Amino acid sequence: MPPAADLPDTFAFIIHPIDPKADVARKWPLVGKTLTRGQIHFLSAYFPLVYMSEVHGIRSIASGKEVRGWFIACPFTPQRMLQLPVERVYDKIVACGHKAESLGARIVGLGAYTSVVGDAGKTIADRLEVPVTTGDSYTIYTAVEAVRRAADAMGIPLHSATAAVVGATGAIGQVCAELLAADVAKLIVVGRRVDAIDAVRDRCSGQRAEVIASTTIGAIYEADLVLTVTSAIDAVIEPEHLKPGAVVCDVARPRDVSRRVAEQRSDVLVIEGGMVEVPGPVDFGMNFGFPPRMSFACMAETIALALEGRYEDYTIGKDLTAAQAREIGAICTKHGFRLAGFRSFEHAVTDEQIAQVRDRAQVRRRTWTPLRDLG
Ligand SMILES: NC(=O)c1ccc[n+]([C@@H]2O[C@H](COP(=O)([O-])OP(=O)(O)OC[C@H]3O[C@@H](n4cnc5c(N)ncnc54)[C@H](OP(=O)(O)O)[C@@H]3O)[C@@H](O)[C@H]2O)c1
Repeated sequence: MPPAADLPDTFAFIIHPIDPKADVARKWPLVGKTLTRGQIHFLSAYFPLVYMSEVHGIRSIASGKEVRGWFIACPFTPQRMLQLPVERVYDKIVACGHKAESLGARIVGLGAYTSVVGDAGKTIADRLEVPVTTGDSYTIYTAVEAVRRAADAMGIPLHSATAAVVGATGAIGQVCAELLAADVAKLIVVGRRVDAIDAVRDRCSGQRAEVIASTTIGAIYEADLVLTVTSAIDAVIEPEHLKPGAVVCDVARPRDVSRRVAEQRSDVLVIEGGMVEVPGPVDFGMNFGFPPRMSFACMAETIALALEGRYEDYTIGKDLTAAQAREIGAICTKHGFRLAGFRSFEHAVTDEQIAQVRDRAQVRRRTWTPLRDLG
């Protein structure tokens, strides 16, 4: 084995189907077309892991260094990961990690639900030789940055705004809330458990924002800015939960924002959090349904750690910190990762569309009466 300094810089990233039919159809069009969603959820538990592709062409703007990587798919859908015994899910993710090791990966990233199950990567990291990261620190950094930029685009002054974080008791939600508390006038943190959400309120207090804890989703009706990041399987934010002109940054995968919002609320701006442009002429070797050179922030964190030569367990577990989110933000910026332009329900959002949302919100506010007693 050559000394570490002579080894090529490499990474692997573990993905899984999120939208069962669309994601399976991208790899096997006939299977995706023929099987129902229910059949895919069920059968996913019996599929082997899948080698997806080799990644080339990612190049740091700071060092000129290139990294090579691989995508490996854990076949389980989010529903199946929640239903199956956690040990069975760990076994499959660890098998993906062993595949990554055999390919020569020097760090492995856990995509979407593979980073949510169980203890958020701790057990998986213990069972693998190769270092592991969930990518959640850069997801936090980019989500908060996206909220700030969207507020600016919508003409919402951050310092006097009311923001809400949904899923604020989660690993990502807690730190997003802590960071936003330094920016806004009022912050509503929403969770399902009273004790846990009160603890998040205490964690966020003492900065700029007055912080309110709530266990009802209806509390976000007051918010100008909503960052949502639950691990719910189904949508939690519906059209009636949002006031005219609100910005919603949806970081969750599967999404938290119902498609009904896109259909019925042309006066609110919904953007996808955690989308990043990768430096260099990258070829991912597969189609995730994104435009060229775009990746999720959690992938970007894994890649940036390889570019930086930081081969260590990085973001692991549920207790994340604002300091680590800032550190990986600085590392990614240095190597040339950039927040992608706004996207909403798989489509790019143009400046003209944002102007239209602002206009419609202005019209709607004239006849707007706040709803009460939303559950
Ligand atoms: N876009 C990206 O690049 C990216 C990267 C990583 C992760 N993610 C996504 O981010 C989300 C959260 O990840 P995480 O690691 O922070 O998860 P987590 O630590 O498990 O936290 C999940 C949060 O969601 C809440 N929750 C779960 N089910 C809910 C429901 N049915 N209704 C309302 N709230 C519910 C939980 O409440 P309790 O505390 O009461 O359980 C908790 O606050 C996931 O969807 C994940 O796929 C996205």
